Amino acid sequence: MREFGPVPSAFVNIEDLRRAARRRLPRSVFDYIDGGAEGEVTLRENCRAFEDVGFRPRCAVETPAPDLRTTVLGTPLSLPVILAPVGSSRMFWPRGEEVAATAAGAAGTIYSLSTLSGCRLEDVKKATPGPAWYQLYLCGGRDVAGATVQRARDAGYSALILTIDTPVAGMRERDLRNGARELLTRKPFEMLPHIGQFLARPRWLSAFFGDGGLMQFPNVMLPDGPMLYADVGVMLEQSTVTWRDLGWIRDIWKGPIVIKGIHTGDDARRAVDEGASAIVVSNHGGRQLDGVRATIRVLPEVVAAAGDRTEVLLDSGVRRGSDIVKALCMGARAVLVGRAYAYGLGAAGGPGVTRAIDILRTDVIRTLKLLGCRSVAELDASYVDVPREWLRATAETSA
Ligand code: GLV
Repeated sequence: MREFGPVPSAFVNIEDLRRAARRRLPRSVFDYIDGGAEGEVTLRENCRAFEDVGFRPRCAVETPAPDLRTTVLGTPLSLPVILAPVGSSRMFWPRGEEVAATAAGAAGTIYSLSTLSGCRLEDVKKATPGPAWYQLYLCGGRDVAGATVQRARDAGYSALILTIDTPVAGMRERDLRNGARELLTRKPFEMLPHIGQFLARPRWLSAFFGDGGLMQFPNVMLPDGPMLYADVGVMLEQSTVTWRDLGWIRDIWKGPIVIKGIHTGDDARRAVDEGASAIVVSNHGGRQLDGVRATIRVLPEVVAAAGDRTEVLLDSGVRRGSDIVKALCMGARAVLVGRAYAYGLGAAGGPGVTRAIDILRTDVIRTLKLLGCRSVAELDASYVDVPREWLRATAETSA
């Protein structure tokens, strides 16, 4: 289904895409993307903490065409940005996961597909000319997840992401208020009080039904068919991955495993000891345990603990290219972005995702030029001032 949206170049920054997504999407869909857990303290702090890192530019230096290329797990990327797994993207735009994967591949980067997705993993892999990673939740139990892992291998996914911060779902208060539970009961009487938000977005509604109005997860094949949409809380709770699971997952997957949800140096070391090929410093975008530290604040501790033994990535709170540059200066190899591109997808589909990536790319180029740095490979701690107390844990970790 073709939908004409706003001209992507009208969006100057990610916040513009966010506002446009809010205008197009029903409240419950927008808030699913935008919201965090409890008081949303970590959600806000993830973004704000980047402000505590200051730049130390080298001026009067020639930087004609900064080189943004890097590799992650041996895969070449045109910029140090990977699209993070984002659940339910097919609610944001028709065939949302395929559309986002196409945009990621065209931009020269990796698309990560969430287990909680509306498009078949095979179709998503086919949609991208680039590499893709598969994010695994153990929904439906070990046999169901094992079958999906096989499918992901056969389809050509090059790494498996295990998210380790969901022993229970975070308390997403916006979802509760918007009637997420009632809407998923499929009982008209319970749904009725929450239907108005969809009627208020007729453009979205017709796109949603034009796409089949499907509310199922085709990558979680239960004995009686694909798992139906259910409350995200219940699903996450049933999907918990523990260190014990790594053994059997490694046996059937055989490829690289990325552990996402590292908050401390101790867990970073544990992940590497358990065979992680890369780790993601992540607090699930502030959607799980509210009150945990911002990821950029945790990064020095994690890099000190495990940075010489694994590739360290970071997500949560990245909204500008300068955030990306700061993370790279502090030891991240690349960042993952979730909301930043999901706003683009919700606002304008594929061109919206492309615009989000372009905004971040031109931000990084400009920041490198202003810093007097010729390539992302040359970024290091000498380009930033990091609050001293963030480094205290580093000294303790390496002592
Ligand atoms: C799923 O992982 C979510 O955070 O909603």
